[in-house]
Amino acid sequence: MNLPDMKSAKMRNKESVEFIYENPIVNNSFSGQKYYIRTYGCQMNVHDSEEISCLLENIGFERVESEVDADLVILNTCAIRENAHDHVFGFLGRLKHLKKENPNLKIIICGCMAQERSVVDEIMSRHKYIDLIVGTHNIHELPNYLMNLNEGLNIEVKSNENNIYEIGNNFRRDSNITAWVNIMYGCDKFCTYCIVPYTRGKERSRKSKDILREVECLKAQGYKEVTLLGQNVNAYGNDLEDDLNFAELLESVAKTGIERVRFVTSHPWNFTDEMIDIIAKYDNIMPYIHLPLQSGSDQILKLMGRRYTREEYKELYDKIKSKVKNVAITTDIIVGFPNETDEDFEATLEMVNYCKYDGAYTFIYSPREGTPAAKMEDKIPREVKENRLQRLNEIVNKYSNMNNQKYLNKTVKVLLVGPSEKGEDKLYGYTETMKLVNVKCDPSLVGNIVDVEITDAKSFSLDGEV
Ligand code: 5AD
Ligand code: SF4
Repeated sequence: MNLPDMKSAKMRNKESVEFIYENPIVNNSFSGQKYYIRTYGCQMNVHDSEEISCLLENIGFERVESEVDADLVILNTCAIRENAHDHVFGFLGRLKHLKKENPNLKIIICGCMAQERSVVDEIMSRHKYIDLIVGTHNIHELPNYLMNLNEGLNIEVKSNENNIYEIGNNFRRDSNITAWVNIMYGCDKFCTYCIVPYTRGKERSRKSKDILREVECLKAQGYKEVTLLGQNVNAYGNDLEDDLNFAELLESVAKTGIERVRFVTSHPWNFTDEMIDIIAKYDNIMPYIHLPLQSGSDQILKLMGRRYTREEYKELYDKIKSKVKNVAITTDIIVGFPNETDEDFEATLEMVNYCKYDGAYTFIYSPREGTPAAKMEDKIPREVKENRLQRLNEIVNKYSNMNNQKYLNKTVKVLLVGPSEKGEDKLYGYTETMKLVNVKCDPSLVGNIVDVEITDAKSFSLDGEV
């Protein structure tokens, strides 16, 4: 058993990263067996699930869309807030019943919760029917673990990782139009509320040649859009010698000629002028930036360890708005950080009123065991935090609606990605600025970038016609 350890997860060894190029195992060990995978959390997890699916299909598994039909259920979990835990433990209750009916059912927990000692302890004491816990650093070992599974609970979690595994990019993705491309793993920012630097380990960048080969290959397969993924993409390349920085990587990806390039997420702290200039220069780098604010109060930003002030954020925001034509900017905001005062909260509202975001993901602070903020005393009652969240959301929604209204009667380019829930004669897709549009059109247009006239604008979506 390899148990997680938050203290060693915090350690950042100085050794350079080793790149391991390995073809995944291919055999028929599990042919005829079916797997169901459920993904919680961020895009990184969505993409990890694509890799996990590839590894499983390589050893004979076939995918199904319900746990009821499966021989193997995998929960790819998220640890960012407590409610993510609650969802997983809620679903485990259901799986426990299924396993009673079918004792051959195998259950695997992977993703960020697997890296938390408290979660693993809880599973060891109360959910012994689970077969395997695999951490975020070793999912490439999954086929091996499955082929050599012991009776009872198996735990395979590494706390610290120094390698990058390149398993090749020849795998089926969820979409054949848009693709996630990891450019780096981990995070070294250690914002005081955040568990990611512990569950995902130290910042490690993939080599630019491997990333570019992947993008070229996606383009050749007909993909229209790639989204470069990292917890903080600005830090790309800092750990590599003689390789590109993020602005240079972005430029090289744009030069492949793939139709749309996106990236998430950028920390406001080291968002360079060089990056802004590259985004402004290339038409195929989409004018959409997710720029997490977290708080508008200098005092709270300092306690969060965010490394910028509200003035610095505003300066960056203004620079992006003035240099990148028609740019849309969205953000993340946390309310109720320990001892956030009314003035601190008002300062956040003021920033939202200043930036008039296209959209914002808003959260109530959730203490994560092992992070510095979890040790801070907090006297703010839950009702106050809920009330703040509600007030914040009202303002955020007002601005998303206002920004969407600007699209009314305009013609914009939309990449059509799939059938819309709004009717059989409709597809849904995204504008360059990442606005969701339900488009009345011929369904055979899926996968194309088309000119769409916007006929209606709501807070969270647009309607249009080709
Ligand atoms: N509590 C609430 N929200 C959090 N986030 C990260 N950690 C926490 C936490 N402990 C939010 C941040 C981050 C987003 C992905 O999740 O806003 O940008
Ligand atoms: Fe978490 Fe901060 Fe890293 Fe984002 S930059 S993953 S909020 S520690």
